[in-house]
Parts: sequence; structure tokens; C-alpha cells
Amino acid sequence: MLTNFRSYGILDLRVEPGHVVLVGPNGAGKTNVLEALSTLAPGRGLRGARLGDLSRMAPGDATPRPWAVSATVSNAGGDVQLGVGFMPGGEESGGAKRAVRIDGVPASNPAQLAERVRLIWLTPAMDRLFIDGVSERRRFLDRLIGGFDPAHTRLWNAYEGAMRERLGALRAGAQAAWLDALERTMAEAAVALAASRLAGLRLLAQTMDGQRASAFPHAEVSLSGAVEDRLASAAAVEVEDQFAALLAVARGSDAEAGRTSVGPHATDFVVRHRDKGREAQVCSTGEQKALLIRLILAGAALPAPGVAETPILLLDEIGAHLDEGRRRALFDEIDALGVQAWMTGTDASYFSALDGRAQIRRVADGAIRPI
Ligand SMILES: Nc1ncnc2c1ncn2[C@@H]1O[C@H](COP(=O)(O)OP(=O)(O)OP(=O)(O)O)[C@@H](O)[C@H]1O
Ligand SMILES: [Mg+2]
Repeated sequence: MLTNFRSYGILDLRVEPGHVVLVGPNGAGKTNVLEALSTLAPGRGLRGARLGDLSRMAPGDATPRPWAVSATVSNAGGDVQLGVGFMPGGEESGGAKRAVRIDGVPASNPAQLAERVRLIWLTPAMDRLFIDGVSERRRFLDRLIGGFDPAHTRLWNAYEGAMRERLGALRAGAQAAWLDALERTMAEAAVALAASRLAGLRLLAQTMDGQRASAFPHAEVSLSGAVEDRLASAAAVEVEDQFAALLAVARGSDAEAGRTSVGPHATDFVVRHRDKGREAQVCSTGEQKALLIRLILAGAALPAPGVAETPILLLDEIGAHLDEGRRRALFDEIDALGVQAWMTGTDASYFSALDGRAQIRRVADGAIRPI
């Protein structure tokens, strides 16, 4: 149920178990539905938009209205009722938080959502993931790992919080002893985060190794980052000391730049097409998409400790860039995972191979109807 979300005033959408395909012309509101579902995951949603931008703006509207998304997620363990809402107006005062309810009970931390539903998405914007900046790739990797390891998201939040606190103290001209303590905390958080990433990558690699032949290329994954690189050859306590020392040296330049120059927030996620022996960024557009799909399928195949549900995949414009054979293979591999996928496309014929395995709905004029 969507209320004042993007192009929807009110949308009450009921689906059966199994895949959901949304087709309709450009601008019909297909991606908006996937984006609404993505607000039920911690962090910024599928478009990385600010919460206030999700609010429905009709012509002539001066101020955004409150929006809400609520969903009943059914799984083997029963039903869970998830609700997310946002009240515009608090942005400046720092109150720009979404309100989260789980089974009607307010949840203080949106990270709790990750324990109730796993959402994994792939969007056309990710087509440039291997070409654009390091931070997009880093975010993709952390989200992918967070999908099967909810503790990973908390480690990221702890590191980011520590980094912010140190920068604030630098700006305020804090005493060296205080900075020493903050950098020690930050170094511990950095090493915990980096170790969790390395463990996550190992699991993804093992999963790809163990999967039977896939139509999607094996992605060789590695990290390039100050802390991760050192962890390969030194004990965690040593790496903590080294990183704390690096931070101490960088105080002056970090204070001047207003940002932290080194650390796991600047780590790059390096992907190679194993069979082609080539870095992802020099692969073709279709090959890059196929590598991303392989990574996402591996993430979706991993069990998540403490999370009972199988994931839900949100695949926006999935027909684009995939030839007929790969599209068919993708549907088969998703089916084999036993997950629910929500897919969008402008053309129903992209999904003909799914006949009988999906609910195909047409999106038009702010409504969604079966076809
Ligand atoms: N905050 C908002 N308030 C009202 N309408 C919005 C808002 N944000 C976006 N829209 C509009 O919602 C409409 C549907 O957008 P959406 O991205 O869901 O389309 P789509 O069906 O995925 O199209 P495409 O095939 O081009 O990807 C667009 O016309 C867009 O301009
Ligand atoms: Mg779209």
C-alpha cells in the first residue's frame, strides 16, 4: 500500500506468491513501485533519493506531503507487517528520518528492517557501476554483503559514525589525547568492517564456485583498500595500530579538506570476468550487466543468519542489454533460487519465457491491472 509516494496518490497492490512483472510505457510508474519496496530496506532506496523527494508532488504543490509504504510479507514463518513513513519538514533540524513500524510496533533503528525482509536490487543506473566512481561500487558491495549478513550493515554504520565524529573533533580543534581516542575507535571499526568485507567476498566466491553452470559469467572479486590490503598479511591488532597512526599523520590535511583521506570508505571493489581474463570495466555493456547479475544471484543464494526469509529481488528494466537466451536463463536461475522477483519492462514480450510462472500486470494512469 502506497500513500503519496512519487506518482501514486494511493495504490493498493495485492499479489500472489511468485514473480511479479510490471509492464507499461515510459513514465507509467513501474520503477516507482520497486522504489517503494526498496524503502523497506535499511539505507537509501533503489534510486538513492532523499526521503523528501519520494513524496508525491502534484502540479501546483508548494510543500511535500507525508508519504507511507506498508507491506505484508508472507513467508514460511508467517506474515510480517512492515511500515515506513516520512513526514516532511524536519530536514533542516536533522529530523529527516523515516518512521519504521514492524508488526505495528515502532522500530528505533531502520537496520531492524533487514532482519525481517531481504531486498536485493539491480537497476539501469548500475549499468555504469564498473565505469563510474569508486564509492558507487563500494556501496554496491556493502549492500550485497549486508543482504546476507545484517551485522555487516551495523559495522558500516559504526565506522561511518566514528569517521564523522573524528572529523567533527578535527574541525573543532580538539586536543590530541581526545583525537587519539577517537582514532583508536575508528581504527577498530575500520578493521572490523574490512574483515567482514573480506569474509563476505570469500562467501560470494565460494558460492559462485559451487554453483552449477550458469549463463552468467563467474566474477572474480577482490578489494583494493588501505586496510583490506594490510589485513591480508598482518594480524588485526597490528593493522589497527597502523591505521590509527595513518589517521594521526593525516590530521592536518583531513581537517583542511573536510574529509577523511584514507580508510575503508575509499576501498574499491575490483571485479574481473574470469573466463575472459579481463577487468569488468573493459568488458562490454552486456558482459558487465551479466557480471552484476551473477554477483546478485550469488548474494541471493547465500543464507542470512538470523533472517528466515529468502530474499526478494527487484530487477528494474531487466530486459535491457540481455539477449533472448540470457533472459530465459535468468528467469530459470531465479526460479531455481526459489525467490520472488519483481521485474519491470516496457515490453511484455521480454517476459514471454516466464509465461505461467509470473503475474504480469500492466501499469498505466496510476493504476496497476492484471493483463
Ligand atoms: N515526487 C514525485 N511526485 C510525483 N510524480 C513523480 C515524482 N517523482 C517522479 N514522478 C513521476 O512518476 C512517473 C513514473 O516514474 P517511474 O520512474 O516509475 O516510471 P517508469 O514506469 O519506470 O518509466 P520508464 O519506463 O521510463 O523507466 C514519472 O512521470 C515521474 O516523473
Ligand atoms: Mg523505470
